[in-house]
Amino acid sequence: MTRFTVNNQPVEYRLDPDTPLLWALRDASNLTGTKYGCGTGQCGACIVDVDGRAVPSCRMTIAEAEGTYVTTIEGLSRERNHPLQLAFIAENVSQCGYCIPGFIMAASVLLRKDADPSEEAIRSTLTNLCRCGIYPRVVEAVQRAGR
Ligand code: FES
Repeated sequence: MTRFTVNNQPVEYRLDPDTPLLWALRDASNLTGTKYGCGTGQCGACIVDVDGRAVPSCRMTIAEAEGTYVTTIEGLSRERNHPLQLAFIAENVSQCGYCIPGFIMAASVLLRKDADPSEEAIRSTLTNLCRCGIYPRVVEAVQRAGR
């Protein structure tokens, strides 16, 4: 059995310890805001916050997550929209929308470390991939959320 905390709730998974965190979140906990893109740690669609780090959940097993505090996009916005979500709406960032949860989770980690990040800091930290090419609007939204 693997135990850790997801969105401030204790969870226990009776799954193969090598199960990727992504699939435990999506399939066992029904937290489908975390997306599957590449499965190789490249695209960022599956990023969640693990103990204050932006982690591609497709590349972390639940055994590696034992004892950690995990926050998903659902946990970020449980009671009201997070400032990042409001900024992404205000800047019309989303196109198809698939990559947005990963961008927002990575940006939330960045903003906790740097409330006023430069464009360069945003672009070098948020290496998430987007097929729609929303990158300039992501920069605007992250800077808006930090203000
Ligand atoms: Fe995890 Fe792409 S699905 S980084």
